[in-house]
Amino acid sequence: MIKTRDYYFKRAKREGYLARSAYKLIQLNKKYNLIKKNYDVLDIGCSPGSWVQVSLQFGAKRVVGIDIQKAKVKSSSFEFINQDIGVVDHSKIGKFDVVLSDISPSTKGYFDAEESVELSRKAWMIAKVTLKQNGNFLCKVFQGREFEEFTAELRKHFKFFKISKPKASRKQSREMYLIGAGFKEQKDI
Ligand SMILES: C[S@@+](CC[C@H](N)C(=O)[O-])C[C@H]1O[C@@H](n2cnc3c(N)ncnc32)[C@H](O)[C@@H]1O
Repeated sequence: MIKTRDYYFKRAKREGYLARSAYKLIQLNKKYNLIKKNYDVLDIGCSPGSWVQVSLQFGAKRVVGIDIQKAKVKSSSFEFINQDIGVVDHSKIGKFDVVLSDISPSTKGYFDAEESVELSRKAWMIAKVTLKQNGNFLCKVFQGREFEEFTAELRKHFKFFKISKPKASRKQSREMYLIGAGFKEQKDI
């Protein structure tokens, strides 16, 4: 059984983060250095907003977040697009040094890995057209039938690629984090 009020849940409350997932991004960023000072960050599936908080703490200059649910961050450096990822007009949001995707089905209960990969693929479609050359991509995805194919597709587009599971991710969860650094120009693929 999942303990909902675990160590990271309590720590997030104490330290003022909007969700325990803040620590996943903190741990991944300390290891892979994806978000740096003055970077522009796109956060797909951003609500309630703990990754926005963390991105700003790591020095992001501008964070654009997309989600169907409301985000709770108030900052002049944060722009919120309250839309389904499938209908966002990416030609109007600019280019980013980093694209993050923590998107997963919004149902509280069971969902299958394929549903999650489908959302992550949509996030990747947006990342592909909004990432600056040499930009970084972090994408949560659940292990299932399509996992291998999706990771193989991503791997081709980055100079550095890793599959990682931070300490703050529950052991029993099938979520994994794909790290792509150094986005290649299309002609180099
Ligand atoms: C695990 S939560 C993200 C938590 C966030 N990273 C944080 O730290 O606060 C996943 C988010 O994906 C969003 N989501 C699910 N389907 C979506 C869709 N089709 N379009 C946009 N957002 C979606 C959910 O509403 C939910 O807020």
